[in-house]
Amino acid sequence: MKPKAAKQEAAPIVEYTHRVAIVTGGTRGIGLGISQALLEKGMHVLAIYRSSREEALEAENMLAQVARKAGAELRVVQGDVGSKTEAERLVNLAGETWGRVDVLVNNAGIFDFSFLEEMTEEFFDHIIRVNLKSMVFAMQAVLPWMKRNRYGRIVNATSISGQLADVGLTAYACSKAGVNQLTRVCSGELAPYGITVNAYAPGIIHTGMTDAMIRERGDRQVKQIPAGYFGRPEDVAALVAFLCSEESAYVTGEIIGVDGGMMKVQNPGRAYEFAATREDSSK
Ligand SMILES: NC(=O)c1ccc[n+]([C@@H]2O[C@H](COP(=O)([O-])OP(=O)(O)OC[C@H]3O[C@@H](n4cnc5c(N)ncnc54)[C@H](OP(=O)(O)O)[C@@H]3O)[C@@H](O)[C@H]2O)c1
Repeated sequence: MKPKAAKQEAAPIVEYTHRVAIVTGGTRGIGLGISQALLEKGMHVLAIYRSSREEALEAENMLAQVARKAGAELRVVQGDVGSKTEAERLVNLAGETWGRVDVLVNNAGIFDFSFLEEMTEEFFDHIIRVNLKSMVFAMQAVLPWMKRNRYGRIVNATSISGQLADVGLTAYACSKAGVNQLTRVCSGELAPYGITVNAYAPGIIHTGMTDAMIRERGDRQVKQIPAGYFGRPEDVAALVAFLCSEESAYVTGEIIGVDGGMMKVQNPGRAYEFAATREDSSK
């Protein structure tokens, strides 16, 4: 006799006014945009920063106004998500404050270059710890909370570098390629608990992470982006807010690019040159 296939009914879409979300690196750059978007959706948000205290305080003031408008609550806390005990402390803080944890956005990350020949063990470990191990720790810590309600949305920050290799990025690219596989593996492991796991892969978004590069060689880099401009944190946040919502229940294991088309075509600059000739001839 054939074994019976497990039957899983689609969960009904239930709009909670106050889902509880954790956003790592939630007070700067892309993470700040995500914290804002989730608060606007009425979620209570725990935003975590590590070292940029002044920027975190500034963000807290701005986000508190957004929260007030949406009738949601905000906590901004300092912590290092690269440490397992810290990740557990921060997740439990959100759970104990609001009684549940529904959403985890593993956004925190660091970026640095080193060629293989010169790369130290310390450099490699540091990048892997913050960009990859931190996500494993936070996912393990939210699991008991999410299983309790058979509901969860986990969204991880990866990068185009997780797919397209670039020199000098052994550590960063390996960390992001690891995030891609972590996302896929865990989407399968956590599906029985009603938890989805997805990732966003930004191209070049104008934040503190990319500011120097954009100033140095932005005019060359922008020619590789079909959209014709560097992304803004809100461009990424709009996608992440969807992946954190009830409506995305049937999307899991996806690595979704937010790159203005950068990973899809070569030489998009030529389309702009051509379009300019058409505009001239239509005058
Ligand atoms: N910007 C881009 O073009 C781009 C492209 C591809 C992928 N990404 C990815 O998108 C994510 C966000 O990037 P971003 O451009 O917004 O970066 P960002 O402006 O440099 O901000 C990084 C955030 O991560 C936090 N963080 C770093 N280490 C941490 C730790 N150990 N514990 C807790 N928080 C920590 C930082 O907090 P403190 O400042 O307080 O230390 C900061 O809030 C990253 O994972 C990045 O790899 C970005």
